[in-house]
Amino acid sequence: MSNLRIASMVGARPNFMKIAPIVHEIQRTAGIDHRLVHSGQHYDQQMSESFFEELHIPKPDVNLEVGSGSHAWQTAEVMKRFEAVVLEWKPDVVMVVGDVNSTLAAALVASKLGVTVAHVEAGLRSFDRSMPEEINRKLTDAISDLLFVTEQSGIQNLLKEGVEQDKIFLVGNVMIDCLVEHRKIAEKSEILRRLGLQKDGVKASAYGLLTLHRPSNVDDAAVLRDILSTIATLAEKMPVFFPVHPRSLERIHQFGLGSYLAEEKSGAASRGIVPLPPLGYLDFLCLMDHARLILTDSGGIQEESTILGVPCLTLRENTERPVTVEQGTNQIVGRDPKKILAAAALVLGAERRAVKAPELWDGHAAERIVKILLERLRPGLLNKPVPESSRIDNKS
Ligand code: UD1
Repeated sequence: MSNLRIASMVGARPNFMKIAPIVHEIQRTAGIDHRLVHSGQHYDQQMSESFFEELHIPKPDVNLEVGSGSHAWQTAEVMKRFEAVVLEWKPDVVMVVGDVNSTLAAALVASKLGVTVAHVEAGLRSFDRSMPEEINRKLTDAISDLLFVTEQSGIQNLLKEGVEQDKIFLVGNVMIDCLVEHRKIAEKSEILRRLGLQKDGVKASAYGLLTLHRPSNVDDAAVLRDILSTIATLAEKMPVFFPVHPRSLERIHQFGLGSYLAEEKSGAASRGIVPLPPLGYLDFLCLMDHARLILTDSGGIQEESTILGVPCLTLRENTERPVTVEQGTNQIVGRDPKKILAAAALVLGAERRAVKAPELWDGHAAERIVKILLERLRPGLLNKPVPESSRIDNKS
């Protein structure tokens, strides 16, 4: 029986921590030939390469080098270039993760060529079509053959949209696999000392952590000004570190909002919104783990903070990850300054809550995914011993 051929697509920063555990599990499993394709949607060292290095993701077999552009242009360009890869290599499965433009582009190409599409992180819905990710999620799920879901809400959403039950699998969360694997390693990061938050290993002083990059928050001058001014008020009491996404940095300069940011003086963090360059995975994980409070518009950080037990205020009107609110530390506070400051005051006055991990967020999602792929597509190859030469421990 021939090996199962899987082509995985990654494109943007949040894809990398999702694919890492899957690639490692594939390396530990016999009977799979794997090719990793990078669309090039994110291309900077800080937005892409550093994640491959820190997470030991093998160099992509193919880089489509698409780069930045409008949504239509970027999606179309990934499609054109990825089609050639699929036609040439003929995978049995194309695996896509998350909800970025590269995810949808690869799924569309595979589906039209009659190749099985597996979507990891399927079923999440914000019910807000103004988010490009929501469109990517709905369309990707509509053409996927195997839908790997992180939380119960995902199953309900897919069933309501008419997806057959036997295509849907609750497997847990690969982003949490990655966190579980790296949390201890991240403790060795120098970031707390570099920012003057910790000396001689004693407990880090209190600080907040901010991330912002959603077009709805950063592409409108008034909205972005209001958010920064609110966080600046909060930052009068403790420093709020802000690793700035390239999109947000561009807008802050364009809208003349730089005055809301404090100067980053290494070793002397005291107050204000302290801008930082985009951080690598381990530095950011360490900074999240020790934060007193996280403020974000990211999807993944709502999940990560849930497992870390760090209070998270989500600066959006909705979430596609309701389990983080029902069971985790997440609160949806929107963009109303009063609401944000009131929620922050409450959280800062309270004890850190005990962590209650959502169902199957246990660090083993990638194992489940790979097992299901084999069960469905090559049952005869299940439990075949891994040849010594392809074992991951021989490679790293
Ligand atoms: C994309 C994803 C979003 C994800 C985010 C994480 C879509 C629709 N959006 O948004 O879901 O949460 O990635 O970062 O796919 N840029 C650089 N260097 C890079 C990449 C981008 O400077 O390596 C700049 C460019 O100016 C670019 C801008 O960032 O125009 C936005 O990049 P883009 O990939 O279009 O979308 P993101 O906002 O990053």
